[in-house]
Amino acid sequence: MRVFVTGGTGLIGSAVVAELLGHGHTVLALARSDSSATALETVGAQTIRGDLADLGALRAGAAQADGVIHLAFANDFSSPAAVAAAVAEEGAALATLGEELIDSGRPLITASGTPYAPGRSSTEADPLPTIGPVGGRSRSVAGVLDLASRGVRSAAVRLPRTVHNQGRGGFAGLLTEMARRTGVSGYPGDGAQRWPAVHALDTAVLFRLVLEQAPAGTAWHAVDDEGDAVRDIAAVIGRRLGLPVEPVPQEAFGPLGPIFATDQPSSSAYTRQTLGWEPHQPSLLADLENIQP
Ligand SMILES: NC(=O)c1ccc[n+]([C@@H]2O[C@H](COP(=O)([O-])OP(=O)(O)OC[C@H]3O[C@@H](n4cnc5c(N)ncnc54)[C@H](OP(=O)(O)O)[C@@H]3O)[C@@H](O)[C@H]2O)c1
Repeated sequence: MRVFVTGGTGLIGSAVVAELLGHGHTVLALARSDSSATALETVGAQTIRGDLADLGALRAGAAQADGVIHLAFANDFSSPAAVAAAVAEEGAALATLGEELIDSGRPLITASGTPYAPGRSSTEADPLPTIGPVGGRSRSVAGVLDLASRGVRSAAVRLPRTVHNQGRGGFAGLLTEMARRTGVSGYPGDGAQRWPAVHALDTAVLFRLVLEQAPAGTAWHAVDDEGDAVRDIAAVIGRRLGLPVEPVPQEAFGPLGPIFATDQPSSSAYTRQTLGWEPHQPSLLADLENIQP
């Protein structure tokens, strides 16, 4: 397939591009700068210049492709306004990509997040929360999945809180950045709350399987570790950086504080059974050993 990819230079996107190219697909990737275009072309992708706000570029990319994988997102959690702007930009971009594919039968695969189910691991059947700082992202994903009734083979790959590679990425990566900045490897609450995780290379395999196989309107879980206690994550970060490991107030984590404080394990049993996906890469706690002081 010729696949239009947004976010192809990111932690997850670069793994997805390599996975697609390694399995007989070709890639047309959105590139918003010279350096991103060079990085993508060096690994064998073609590029189309533009960013998520350039709806014409998105339409042109989707029109030239047999399928679309959307991963670009301005991961700016510095303030509620920054989060809201990123969510709105992505919503408009996804709506545009979806419109271009109506009645085509072609796949549109979008990144999403694993839901929260009180007292148990969430499953692929659980709905996404549409409230909270990133609730708007869930509404955008729902809009994509609804396009199943309009001739789009739409699907969502729900990502856990941390998608990691070489010790970097996701919520654990944000904890690491904060530890470097503040001199304390902190965690909210008592740290017993669990976050799910997966390696980016395993995630990329699932994106390819969903692109190739998933029926319209379906959601899948890219979860390897069902739930790592946040204080265990903070403990590895603190040891690698030579910093004390301590609880810190939830407010210190900004708009993501309430989400950081929530116990939110997640399962991928249905995804594994149905698509034959099996993660092989290191767990989060093992991968965090790659953090360098
Ligand atoms: N990593 C995780 O743990 C995790 C967990 C849950 C969900 N997710 C979601 O998965 C997706 C990919 O995450 P990631 O970790 O791979 O992100 P990342 O490493 O921060 O990469 C972001 C990608 O999006 C591109 N991008 C950002 N803003 C853009 C814009 N306005 N226009 C065009 N391109 C733009 C970047 O391009 P440049 O290279 O040109 O900057 C880059 O390719 C995101 O939706 C993220 O929220 C990630």
